[in-house]
Amino acid sequence: MIMTPDEITQRAKALVPWHRIFVSRSGVQFGDGEVPVDTEKTTYVRECVEELGGSVNSVVELGSYEGYHAIQLAEWPGVERVVGLEGRARNLEKANLVNECLGYDKVHFYQYDLEQVGRVPLPEPGPFDLVFCAGLLYHLSQPWKVVQWMSEVCAKYVFIDTHYAELPLYQCGPYFGELYPEIASETCGLKDFSFWPVLGDLLLMLMQHSFVPRFVYRYSAGHHFQPRVWIFAEKGASSAELNGINPLRPGVREILPDLEADPVPSLFYPLKRQADSIKKEKK
Ligand SMILES: C[S@@+](CC[C@H](N)C(=O)[O-])C[C@H]1O[C@@H](n2cnc3c(N)ncnc32)[C@H](O)[C@@H]1O
Repeated sequence: MIMTPDEITQRAKALVPWHRIFVSRSGVQFGDGEVPVDTEKTTYVRECVEELGGSVNSVVELGSYEGYHAIQLAEWPGVERVVGLEGRARNLEKANLVNECLGYDKVHFYQYDLEQVGRVPLPEPGPFDLVFCAGLLYHLSQPWKVVQWMSEVCAKYVFIDTHYAELPLYQCGPYFGELYPEIASETCGLKDFSFWPVLGDLLLMLMQHSFVPRFVYRYSAGHHFQPRVWIFAEKGASSAELNGINPLRPGVREILPDLEADPVPSLFYPLKRQADSIKKEKK
């Protein structure tokens, strides 16, 4: 059923504040956000797929927020199914409204907590050709679990847009990184902290789960703290599991903290106080 301009305005008003600005098919502007919808990331991913001579038929978007990326992905030639997974009910309502006003029947949004992957079944089963994961990984307490799950549901490609840690202050299993508090905002995570791996360990995490990084764009490197990266990786036939730590000293074993437990301070933790004061000065 087509919504009247009044209905669109009323439904959007009930969901304020918005982050983005939208225009319905019938020309009604809604959402009181200040940021126009960004198309940079979907354009980048499309270019990566084309460079590799590939194609995409189905997509799952993680942390689909107000729904704009899912709808852009549905516009690619050949895409027949897009599933958006979002942890917050209010964001889901916004995405559904956006989809009704300017989206497609082939796009479906669901409320799903990505901290629960592997324990709670997906509302729509995979596999998916593309896993699109923008602005989500750095809001998770155990990002490696989502990377492992991605490799189970992903048939071809994964795109990750995320911050990574500058310093290896904490450790969980083999991964070094930093801890950040999560606050109760509509864009944050659902736990009270997130773990950001350093870039090398994020790439290691991907390779351990059968992803081969093809394009790695550190677009904010060197500009400010909390650097960010775009990684486009392809699903490989086998995982790049490590052969050991040091072939020159084959007997050496690292004692690794438990992956199931919360991250623990690493050997580098004493640097934290200095790092915090430098960050404060730079702000
Ligand atoms: C920073 S926003 C990014 C939104 C969008 N993907 C983008 O790139 O513009 C993070 C989104 O992920 C959602 N999110 C955070 N933690 C989540 C979780 N555990 N499960 C599902 N969604 C989550 C938030 O509610 C929010 O919509």
